[in-house]
Amino acid sequence: MPDRPSDADLLADLTETAAVAESGEAPRSWERKSSGAGRCRSRGKSNNPYLSNWAKHYEFILKVPPLHQIRTSEERSLQRLLDASLRPTDRVLEIGPGTGRQTVKLAARVAHVTAVEQSEEMVEQLLRRLEHEGVGNCEVITGDFTKIRFAERFDVVALIGVVDYFADPAAFMAQVGAITEREIVFTAPHCGCLAKSFRLCNRLRGIAVSNQSIEQVRGYLPQFDVEVEETGLRSPLWKGMTLACRAVRR
Ligand SMILES: C[S@@+](CC[C@H](N)C(=O)[O-])C[C@H]1O[C@@H](n2cnc3c(N)ncnc32)[C@H](O)[C@@H]1O
Repeated sequence: MPDRPSDADLLADLTETAAVAESGEAPRSWERKSSGAGRCRSRGKSNNPYLSNWAKHYEFILKVPPLHQIRTSEERSLQRLLDASLRPTDRVLEIGPGTGRQTVKLAARVAHVTAVEQSEEMVEQLLRRLEHEGVGNCEVITGDFTKIRFAERFDVVALIGVVDYFADPAAFMAQVGAITEREIVFTAPHCGCLAKSFRLCNRLRGIAVSNQSIEQVRGYLPQFDVEVEETGLRSPLWKGMTLACRAVRR
């Protein structure tokens, strides 16, 4: 069985990461256990109640049509982009891993994954999944990515389904670009009718979701060449729900 952190460890993590968030210093790196799943640092309560409340239903919701079809088509595009992007020696940062749908696949293909997730409920499920799959090269940080200062840049940064929830995607993507050594693989909600319905549904629940055009997405990362694929139920009649993107530093 993988090692679990003790209560004393978790308390130390909580104190340490809170200090990191306040001081802006980089987190110290953890020793990786050879057989252990991701270790968890906690930084207090999640500030994303929507996703927290829905965390336990998240996997189920994604199986409901047409979300299942949208996700399946996004997944095909993402795997193409990740195939072109990942190298076995890479150190990867995943922002907003949720329940870890991509995390396990990423960890199998690279040297190390750091996963930053702000919802504690998502982290619980992520850690369970990492343990179940016996992943030993992943560190999990509970906290808001935008408040964490990292000491080093990562070879690749992955963020799937995360840009959607930022009121200022340009500022967020600039922060992501600054800690990326080579490439960013990400999705963004498109501006077609499917994405607009998604936005409307969320607005009815009081959640702000942004829609992005291909030009906007490219403009966020001026130091990168950005390859963009329309995906998520794209048809000759309408634009897909999602833009799957791979940005490579020039
Ligand atoms: C729609 S889910 C996507 C989860 C996963 N990437 C997937 O593809 O299934 C978005 C996730 O991003 C997390 N998230 C949003 N903003 C974040 C932030 N500032 N820092 C860390 N995680 C964040 C949310 O808590 C949520 O789990």
